[in-house]
Amino acid sequence: MSDRVPRNEPVMSEPEPSARAHRVLVVDDERNVHVALARQLKVDPYEVFTAESSDEALQLLGKHTFAVIVADYLMPKMNGIDLLAITQKLYPDTVRILFTAYNEANIAIEAINKGGIYRYIIKPWNGKEIRAIIREAVDRFQLAAINRKLFDLTKVQNQALLEKTKEIELKNRALKKLYEESNLNYLKSIEIFSSLLEVFDPWLMQHAKRVAELARLVCAKLDLEEKDRNHVEFSALLHDLGLIGLPKILSRKKFSLCSEDEKRLIKQHSQIGQNLVGKDPKFSTVAAIIRSHHERYDGKGWPDGLAGEDIPFGARIVAVIDAYDSLLYPANIYDRSSPESVKGYLYNSRGTRFDPRIVDTFLLALAEHGEITERGLIPVDQLRSQEEDLFT
Ligand SMILES: [Fe+2]
Repeated sequence: MSDRVPRNEPVMSEPEPSARAHRVLVVDDERNVHVALARQLKVDPYEVFTAESSDEALQLLGKHTFAVIVADYLMPKMNGIDLLAITQKLYPDTVRILFTAYNEANIAIEAINKGGIYRYIIKPWNGKEIRAIIREAVDRFQLAAINRKLFDLTKVQNQALLEKTKEIELKNRALKKLYEESNLNYLKSIEIFSSLLEVFDPWLMQHAKRVAELARLVCAKLDLEEKDRNHVEFSALLHDLGLIGLPKILSRKKFSLCSEDEKRLIKQHSQIGQNLVGKDPKFSTVAAIIRSHHERYDGKGWPDGLAGEDIPFGARIVAVIDAYDSLLYPANIYDRSSPESVKGYLYNSRGTRFDPRIVDTFLLALAEHGEITERGLIPVDQLRSQEEDLFT
C-alpha cells in the first residue's frame, strides 16, 4: 500500500476540490494501479476515491454519490463485471467503466450485457485518453442527473395537476349537487303554486295544464333551449295564478258580462301572479311572462300596452295558447267554439292580437298532432262574439 495516496480519502485534497466536484471511484486490488489512475485524473476537478475490493467499493457507493466508477475486471471474490452489475442495479446513474489487462471479446460482451458499462478500457491506458473518457462519463452522469431532475419535476407537476383536477372534479360535483338541489327546489315551488291554483279552482288548473302542454309543443317546434322551454312551460302553467287573489266567481265569469269594476279587478290578475311568483329571483323570467300574457301584438293589451317584440317572447306564446284553450274549453260548456273556428280566429288575429310567427308555429304544431280538420279555417266574422271573452 503506498503512503502517498491515503486510502478512501479524496486524492484531490490539494487544492481543495469544489463542493460540487463530481466523485470518481477507482476499484482495483492492485494499489499501484489506482494510485496511478488517480494521479492522472488529478488535473481535473474530481474527488477521486479508491477501493481495493468490490466490498470496499460497495461500502463507498453506499456512502456517496459517484458520477463514475472505474473497476478492474480481475479481482478476488467478486470481479469487476459483477461489481458493475450490482452498481447498475443500485445506482443506475453512476456511469460504469471496466478496465482490464485482457483484450478479450467475451469479457467486453459480458461487461456490456451484464454490467451495462459505458466504456471498456485495456491496460495499460493512455493518460490523455483516460481523462477524456472520464470527462465524457461525467458529462453523461450530469446529463442523466438533469434528465432525472426534469423527470422528477414533471412527476411532481403531473401529481399537482392530478390533484388540481381532482379538486376541480370535487367542486364540479358539489356545484352539480347544488344545482340539482336548486332545481329540485324550483320544481317544488312550481308544484306548490300549481297546488294553490288547483285548490282555488280545479277547472282553472285543468286549463293551465292544457296550456302548459301545448306550450311545450310550440317550444319544441321553435327549437328553444331547454332552459327557455322550461320558463315558457312553467309560465303557461302559472299564467292565471293571480286569479286566486280575486273573488272566485270572477275567474269563471264571462269577461263580456262583467261590470267595469269587475273587469278592472280581473285585469289585475297578471300583476298579482307576477308578484306571487316573482318573490324568488329564480322566477324572474317566469314572473315577467305571467305579467305580460294579456299583452297584444298591436299594443292594445294590458297591463303595460307593450307591442311586438317588446312583449316577452314567452308571453307571446302563452297568449296564443291561452286564447285557443279558453275559447275551446270555456267555463260554460255552452259557450264552446269548435276547434276549426278557434284556429280561424287565431289565424285572423295574426299581427293584431298575436305574434304571427307564434300563431303559425302553433297551428303547425296542432296540424302535426292531427287537430286541424278538413274544413280548414273559419272566416273571422263568425268569431267576433267569441273575441269579446278574451278579457279585452
Ligand atoms: Fe289570464
